[in-house]
Amino acid sequence: MDGVIFVIFGASGDLAVRKLIPAIFKLYTGKYLPENFAVLGVSRSKYTDAAFQKKVFYDSEFIKLSSKEKKEHKDFTARLSYVPIDTKEVADYAKVKKQLAALDKKFDIGGNYIYYLSTPPFLYSTIPANLAAHGLHKEKEGWRRLVVEKPFGYDLETAIALNKDLRVNFSENQIYRIDHYLGKETVQNLLVTRFANGVFEPLWNRNYIEHVQITSAEDLSVGSRGGYYDKSGALRDMFQNHLMQIIAHVAMEPPIAATAKAIRDEKMKVFQSLRPIAEEDISKQVIRGQYTSSVIDGKEVKGYRQEEGVPDDSRTDTFIALKFFIDNWRWADVPFYVRSGKALPTKVTEVVITFKDPPHALFRKEEMVYNDNNQLIIRIQPNEGLLLKFGMKVPGAGFEVKDVGMDFRYSDLAQSHVPAAYERLLLDVIKGDATLYARGDSVEESWKFVAPILNAWKNNPKIKVYGYPAGTWGPSVVAKLIESDDVTWRNPCEDLTTDDNFSEL
Ligand code: BG6
Repeated sequence: MDGVIFVIFGASGDLAVRKLIPAIFKLYTGKYLPENFAVLGVSRSKYTDAAFQKKVFYDSEFIKLSSKEKKEHKDFTARLSYVPIDTKEVADYAKVKKQLAALDKKFDIGGNYIYYLSTPPFLYSTIPANLAAHGLHKEKEGWRRLVVEKPFGYDLETAIALNKDLRVNFSENQIYRIDHYLGKETVQNLLVTRFANGVFEPLWNRNYIEHVQITSAEDLSVGSRGGYYDKSGALRDMFQNHLMQIIAHVAMEPPIAATAKAIRDEKMKVFQSLRPIAEEDISKQVIRGQYTSSVIDGKEVKGYRQEEGVPDDSRTDTFIALKFFIDNWRWADVPFYVRSGKALPTKVTEVVITFKDPPHALFRKEEMVYNDNNQLIIRIQPNEGLLLKFGMKVPGAGFEVKDVGMDFRYSDLAQSHVPAAYERLLLDVIKGDATLYARGDSVEESWKFVAPILNAWKNNPKIKVYGYPAGTWGPSVVAKLIESDDVTWRNPCEDLTTDDNFSEL
């Protein structure tokens, strides 16, 4: 494998400490990294190499080793160095260049650098331009790759502008837009479930599927992230990126090969087929909610507007539920329902495929038709796995049918280490495999679907923001989105909720 230097911009920040360095370390201990590698932290904080190593490794609560074990990894820490610069100052990049040259020589890297932008988004255009001003984008001696964290823009215009800025100096195949949901094994497994088996795909269409539900719930509230979150909201923070990627995996056509181009082409087609939600339908098809204070397990929980950094008249969505359609041959008229929110009863992400009733109801008991609950549940997290629900005969006289489930759990697989999303994605960028990264055109296409909703909210203050008490499954009106006679949202932890305490803000 090619040697590589990971250059982390924003190296003293939360993401680097929590996710990036621990992921690189795991790859190192798992012997996935090339022998020739180094990590260069770049940030404003004035650390020495030793202080940086202490912060991100020796004192890190995210690297779970005893201090003795940490000492044994001297070879790893010897490869962590740091340069303090003002990333806005183009002249400062001379220091980065000098340090890169020194590391390249010391560890015999061969000129391959990954620039990871783990910084506030307002620097996403500046840093690549400043790198280019020093020729650090040129792939003369080795390759140069740029990893960009979400958000990829704030709306359609800023997403287009960001893509344009990035492509001034870096070509699309040097740009890796990271969406950590694509690094999750179970999101990737959606493709394997669908396309490595003969049994699911023939049913995977409008002839057999009644509707699709996706729930991505978090029990945590916004906490200390109020300042950031209030400018974002659930639609931008979760739906436009992570959930649209899941939708693409559920809905895409079989790619012609398991290559980055083929898979990303098919995902792009899904985004192109999304039926735009007309302005007059937005309040019917898109429900936004905001958590209000409540008591959970005897403890008082703040409402969103009481969180630090959140204005007390904020209308930001901490919950979102949408109904939409994909206008193509496979999915015509099949409703997709997606919901996501903070301060819900539990943390869970799952996809529920509800199959149509059998055409002729053979087994009835009085007016009840059996077997109306044929569902395939794909659990993205936690308790990753798959559950197929169907009807079975109850032993004894007659034909009494009972709902049963057949399940597979990832934890049953013998392989002990399931790589964390960042491990997988960082390894892919070293290998130059962009399959699990978002492509520029599809990011713009996904904003095209989301933008009219954001615009309607902005321009029409009459569109309601519904309150829901923290710890419940969101606003009560969300139940009405699903128009099925006998199927509602599947709440993975129904027992934690109460249904009678909803309000409207
Ligand atoms: C991030 C969002 O992208 O994803 C957070 O900004 C959210 O608000 C997080 O909590 C959820 O990720 P995961 O992997 O914990 O489901």
